[in-house]
Amino acid sequence: MRLRADEFSRFGEALGRALAAPAVIGLSGELGTGKTTLVQAICRGLGAPTLATSPTYALVHRYDAAGRPVYHVDCYRLRQPDEARDLGFEEMMHEGAIVLIEWPERAGAWAPPLDRHLRLAFDADPDVRVVEEP
Ligand SMILES: Nc1ncnc2c1ncn2[C@@H]1O[C@H](COP(=O)(O)OP(=O)(O)OP(=O)(O)O)[C@@H](O)[C@H]1O
Ligand SMILES: [Mg+2]
Repeated sequence: MRLRADEFSRFGEALGRALAAPAVIGLSGELGTGKTTLVQAICRGLGAPTLATSPTYALVHRYDAAGRPVYHVDCYRLRQPDEARDLGFEEMMHEGAIVLIEWPERAGAWAPPLDRHLRLAFDADPDVRVVEEP
């Protein structure tokens, strides 16, 4: 799928509206391909307000969608998979949360099984992103 920014937002919002907890979604793709932008759109679709300026150093953000927990986990800065041991994935699964994970491959076996794995890529057109789900 080749999506311009507005289509990309709508895609994420529709995905969020259709999501029922528990669910684990992985988002992979090079820096700047739109993983965080997609997480924010999914959260809008879920009705889970995110902070306009979230602290970039936190690996885990917790949001709330009508009483249901939504987690955004960014594994980019993990230096090795074992560092994902303390991110709290097990508790998130016990809570029946919606879990959105950037760079799940960096968490290795510590990442919970993904229900969906979206792969984002650049396009020749800088205003377009390619979204694939194998
Ligand atoms: N068609 C498009 N879809 C989504 N984002 C786009 C599109 N065109 C341009 N952009 C821009 O691409 C950037 C994506 O940044 P974002 O932080 O979401 O990427 P990221 O994959 O999370 O990067 P990082 O790995 O550094 O966290 C945003 O600045 C966004 O405005
Ligand atoms: Mg990001």
